[in-house]
Amino acid sequence: VQGRRAGGVASMDWAALREAVASCTACKLCQGRRQTVFGVGAERAEWMIVGEAPGEQEDLKGEPFVGPAGKLLDQMLHAIGLAREPGAPRGQVYIANVLKCRPPHNRNPEPEEIAQCEPFLRRQIELVQPRIILAMGRFAVQTLLQSQEAIGRLRGRVHRYQGIPVVVTYHPAYLLRNLPDKAKAWEDLCLAVHQLRQERRA
Ligand code: URA
Repeated sequence: VQGRRAGGVASMDWAALREAVASCTACKLCQGRRQTVFGVGAERAEWMIVGEAPGEQEDLKGEPFVGPAGKLLDQMLHAIGLAREPGAPRGQVYIANVLKCRPPHNRNPEPEEIAQCEPFLRRQIELVQPRIILAMGRFAVQTLLQSQEAIGRLRGRVHRYQGIPVVVTYHPAYLLRNLPDKAKAWEDLCLAVHQLRQERRA
């Protein structure tokens, strides 16, 4: 992508960014994808949810979090009055992943793949200008906070990415396998709601 070579991602508008993602061949994941998965939601949402990478369903549909983990995410959002569709009662949400292409067999993202793809996420955050970011799972957290700490050690307090508050929580796919930790994810959501209230007052 020419814009990428010129270091242009950081100045792209939504249309250019969408096109750059759709035509990206910067890493080997482009070979196995059905399509890229850009992101979904209101382009100036207060909330931004950052996940890991598309899975099978997302690769099929071209939208993040539409498989089983996405169903749980939708329930979590619903519980705090949010929805990915416009018009939710308590503010709007934008959902994106660190990687825009599905890793084979849903394996973990590799450092090189994250390095190639993360400028897209950074630009999405700049364009959305969310008031709060919910980073779900290890790869979202590591990418945004540049930290190798476990989620269990980072959750429960507010971090910052480019001045934007970041609340860390477990990935919904993890929660589906570890149901007791749902209570902790609920605490994290409450922390994010609380922090957003503070941001609105500021
Ligand atoms: N898991 C993610 O992190 N993102 C998706 O879009 C789907 C599953």
